[in-house]
Amino acid sequence: MTLGIIAALKDEIAELIQSMEQDGNVIVQRVGMRDFYIGQLEGQPCVLVLARIGKVAAAATAVTLIREFGIDEILFSGVAGGLARQVNVGDVVIADKLIQHDMDARPIFPRYEIPLLGVTEFCSAPDLSEELRVAAQYFLTHQLTDHRAALTQLGITAARLHIGTIASGDQFIGAHQDADRLRVELPEVYAVEMEGAAVAQICHEFDVPCAIIRTISDRADSSAHIDFNQFLVNVASHYASGIIRRFLSQRTIRQVKC
Ligand code: ADE
Repeated sequence: MTLGIIAALKDEIAELIQSMEQDGNVIVQRVGMRDFYIGQLEGQPCVLVLARIGKVAAAATAVTLIREFGIDEILFSGVAGGLARQVNVGDVVIADKLIQHDMDARPIFPRYEIPLLGVTEFCSAPDLSEELRVAAQYFLTHQLTDHRAALTQLGITAARLHIGTIASGDQFIGAHQDADRLRVELPEVYAVEMEGAAVAQICHEFDVPCAIIRTISDRADSSAHIDFNQFLVNVASHYASGIIRRFLSQRTIRQVKC
């Protein structure tokens, strides 16, 4: 079983790429202007890749992982803006459903419906998401304190884990009006980002299980761009590395026991 791990930006998974390189035996293959890092993490075969930002880039990357690298599952890890009131900077959101908030082919198709697929939402894989939830909860409970200095600097004193809908669109939400409009139109949405629902669509089309995990870097408001950059540089990679390594090491332990 090979896991494809996608992030949009290097800062989001820099530590994981470093770990893979330190383990040795990494092959880097360039396809479609992206480097794919083929190797092992915590004893599990993985292909790591930086998609760049946006739905098209994410979709192209997911297709390449499936068709060129034969991966069996996809995990997308990155940051997001917190949209629901209870979702704060430093929290983690794991998607159970994903929607493309900028899809609007009315009057030919209903709002948010993906034309000719007949669906408005994509589901993540329940088993994969549950494994990720357990790993994320472990990280938040036991390992987050390792990064206390960086978190305190960003005003983060507590971090919670949420399971809920994530909305993706080709737009950085950094204005109150845009965030409020989304809160009214899509009240079930916990977090906004720019790739997850595109990866979920590709995984739906190719019948590949996927899970999407996001650390909240900002509140999708007028200071979102400042919070986003600080969080990205100082904290994002620690979350991704801590959670994904735990997720993979638990898999290895389960395989050894079997
Ligand atoms: N990723 C992180 N923060 C975001 C925001 N506010 N809007 C869209 N994508 C994001």
